[in-house]
Amino acid sequence: MTVAAHFQFKNNTLHAEDVSLAALAEEHGTPLYVYSRQALHDAWDAYRVASEGRNVLVCYGMKANSNLAVLNEFKQLGSGFDIVSGGELARVLAIGGDPGKIVFSGVGKQVWEMRAALEAGVKCFNVESEAELLRLAQVAQEMGKVAPVSLRVNPDVDAKTHPYISTGLKENKFGIAIESAMAVYQRAAALPSLQVVGVDCHIGSQITEVSPYLDALDKLVALIQALASQGIHLKHLDLGGGIGIRYTDETPLSPTDLLDNVFRVLEQQGLAHLQIVLEPGRSLVGNAGALLTRVEFLKHSEAKNFAIVDAAMNDLLRPTLYDAWHSVEAVAPRQSEGSTPRYDIVGPICESGDWLARDRPMELQQGDLLAIMSAGAYAFTMASQYNTRPRAAEVMVDGAKAHVVRPRETLGSLFSTETVLD
Ligand code: LLP
Repeated sequence: MTVAAHFQFKNNTLHAEDVSLAALAEEHGTPLYVYSRQALHDAWDAYRVASEGRNVLVCYGMKANSNLAVLNEFKQLGSGFDIVSGGELARVLAIGGDPGKIVFSGVGKQVWEMRAALEAGVKCFNVESEAELLRLAQVAQEMGKVAPVSLRVNPDVDAKTHPYISTGLKENKFGIAIESAMAVYQRAAALPSLQVVGVDCHIGSQITEVSPYLDALDKLVALIQALASQGIHLKHLDLGGGIGIRYTDETPLSPTDLLDNVFRVLEQQGLAHLQIVLEPGRSLVGNAGALLTRVEFLKHSEAKNFAIVDAAMNDLLRPTLYDAWHSVEAVAPRQSEGSTPRYDIVGPICESGDWLARDRPMELQQGDLLAIMSAGAYAFTMASQYNTRPRAAEVMVDGAKAHVVRPRETLGSLFSTETVLD
């Protein structure tokens, strides 16, 4: 049974750390996102141990889960942040995060976002096109500042993951083709309002093997050496995020697998002076969260059994968007009587795509509670209010205590700012 480390059964009831999920549902209602604080710390620890004695900066890829409580844990643990918008920057500043540990990624940075990041003093802009480079140079010049830049290069490697979350291939919109990178670096180096500080790539997400990273690294190393021969010396190499998690039976690479290999290559190539930046998102939070939901109705048809639950695609988009598999646990599992029926777990939204899991053998009754596992990453952050459904509350469990870190949205708040014409 795939239950994450800090989600375990005690007395036949699934708990987050020492708190019963049944009690949480009773108190806070469903659907409900539940996070384990200890799981965040443990996930961080894997990066801390892998980085020991090495010049590594971990910048949490906060798009995976940007609740302030989550950000605050990572800030306190020493993390930097990988941001992709002015909104994410504002969140980091709101928790007092160190701008000097922020890298700013994304293909479409707007002028106001560049300004805000320059004002804050971020570590680096990961620039994804020549047009963006020129805009940044201009904005920095107008502000009388020098923008630290790194080019996001597209190494054209196959991350062997879902096409929607694969980003390092030639046909993807991300980054600058590695063949063009030298010319763009030379242009950047010649602009007085820019300072070239690094190189960056991010080849995809939910990567389970080390080999795509090493393929990318080889190409980046060649580029770094070619740049040095032209007098452009970099301080850091950012390998992006992407380390996968176990949703079902995957055995993803660990931060240690990655960094041992990376530093071996850097030492062989005489590049051990470079700082390595990582931007992990999912691997820091994915298995620290579950989405708690209640069965509203069971519906049996000739072809299928459906469990209609109160969570939906607006709460967890990954299944329908990526055909993603999330483990589903009954919070209080029932004994099987004879052959176990198989259910599609679906939400109440008016779309056939509104499903959370398919064909799961489960003994269910109306009113049962289910925990959809691995919902710490890309669950709440991709949630919407589709069908005028308030976004669910988020709770962080710490030992025997549960803290509401974002209350459930109220119906009123959903449309209180809308107006009608006279
Ligand atoms: N850095 C950059 C530039 C990124 O674009 C991403 C994720 C990350 C870091 C963090 O990647 P991670 O370590 O989490 O794999 N919504 C999708 C995943 C989209 C990832 C987008 N970029 C999902 O639910 O699977």
